[in-house]
Amino acid sequence: MSNPASPPAVGVVVDRPPLTFPPGFLWGAATAAYQIEGAAAEGGRTPSIWDTFSHTPGRVVEGHTGDVACDHYHRMGSDVALMAELGLRSYRFSVSWPRVQPGGTGPANAEGLDFYRRLVDELLGHGIEPWLTLYHWDLPQPLEDAGGWPARDTAARFADYATLVSDALGDRVRYWTTLNEPWCSAFLGYGSGVHAPGRSDGADAVRAGHHLMLGHGLAVQALRAARPSAEVGVTVNLYPVTPASDAPADADAARRIDGLANRFFLDPLLRGSYPADLMADLAGVTDFGHVRDGDLATISTPLDVVGVNYYSRHVVAAPVPDAEPEPYWRAPSCWPGSEDVRFVTRGVPVTDMNWEIDAPGLVETLRRVHEEYTDLPLYVTENGSAFVDEVVDGRVEDADRLAYFDAHLRAAHEAIEAGVPLRGYFAWSLMDNFEWAWGYTKRFGMVHVDYDTQVRIPKSSARWYAEVIRRNGLAAQ
Ligand code: FCB
Repeated sequence: MSNPASPPAVGVVVDRPPLTFPPGFLWGAATAAYQIEGAAAEGGRTPSIWDTFSHTPGRVVEGHTGDVACDHYHRMGSDVALMAELGLRSYRFSVSWPRVQPGGTGPANAEGLDFYRRLVDELLGHGIEPWLTLYHWDLPQPLEDAGGWPARDTAARFADYATLVSDALGDRVRYWTTLNEPWCSAFLGYGSGVHAPGRSDGADAVRAGHHLMLGHGLAVQALRAARPSAEVGVTVNLYPVTPASDAPADADAARRIDGLANRFFLDPLLRGSYPADLMADLAGVTDFGHVRDGDLATISTPLDVVGVNYYSRHVVAAPVPDAEPEPYWRAPSCWPGSEDVRFVTRGVPVTDMNWEIDAPGLVETLRRVHEEYTDLPLYVTENGSAFVDEVVDGRVEDADRLAYFDAHLRAAHEAIEAGVPLRGYFAWSLMDNFEWAWGYTKRFGMVHVDYDTQVRIPKSSARWYAEVIRRNGLAAQ
């Protein structure tokens, strides 16, 4: 075993030195309810927007749905045993709103809550810290029928749901995340429509973003009132946005996309205001008439932690008149008011999602949140990569995914050395699962799932990660 303090042996070429993380660094892995649970119509669960969306022809690749997913609902015990075998110190999961409060209003469904009580007890029994996310995109369908996130009332419904979960689990869960990636819920769900509920209206997307954050603020207050000891946070997905050239027009394109992707959320949540330039960019989309007095104070209710999900960087350029439209990013667009900005690929290595691999972007992102926004403890609540895996003789050698994790953990360490109070890291994902509009065609897991047999095989990245956790750091390579 290498000793991080000793220099490399003479004659040994060490490209990447060993790194040790601060004591108590929280090592975990993440999943989300709809992506793994299955049991869509069991135990009193009713449909969410993702059930409706995935059952609508043409919405999800190959018509895949989360009906069965990883069957985690029935395999929870052995899944937690596997987490323990990998040495996870924490497990980030989400609660399915329509499982614990069918329809999104009214009393709790005891059977649904029992599932999460058992999960949490099982985790605690194995010494694994539960990290609970209240909303990872599965809005109860009746709330969408009543207007969804563009409707203000959904925020109040969310706070009620938060109270109900806190009443049931607050005695045993310390870490609470309100929302996962509100950008995706708002701009993919109501802007481009590539995510549930599949609506495409820029103004609705902006309203949805606001009401998601309002729901977050109300939920933070509800969680604190119910359980003052709770550590409460939110998870945002952030991207460094880089202009493709030094041209001022490209810099302006980067400013616009940074506004929509990052500052739309960071500023209200952590500063209590919307950026003026973003509001100006959106002037043709909305007059922000949905923002009421006091909303921003609620939205910026102080937090205990901030979660950052990081996958890649956006490189953007100014619109080119008469350019061929890029179908994914345009009409309908998830960038209201900035539909014409071009997303540029640099030709660097990409994952199976076509997302550029950019570990330095994680350092930039974490430093920015800390240096520009907050002194709060930060956690990387998701980071990972999809690659095509092959099972050979019962093994999956996922060198690409392992290298991705290695590079990003080195970046996380660099951020810590630069002064970022980064307290933990959650790999996305514990196991292969339902990757939203891509169904089961994209594999992000450290554990391989055979969807016919539900057999789990830890990939080499999982074995490697277990060793990282054991030594609280990275070996030299
Ligand atoms: C994030 C989501 C997560 C997963 C990863 C790949 O945007 O939070 O559920 O789909 O991307």
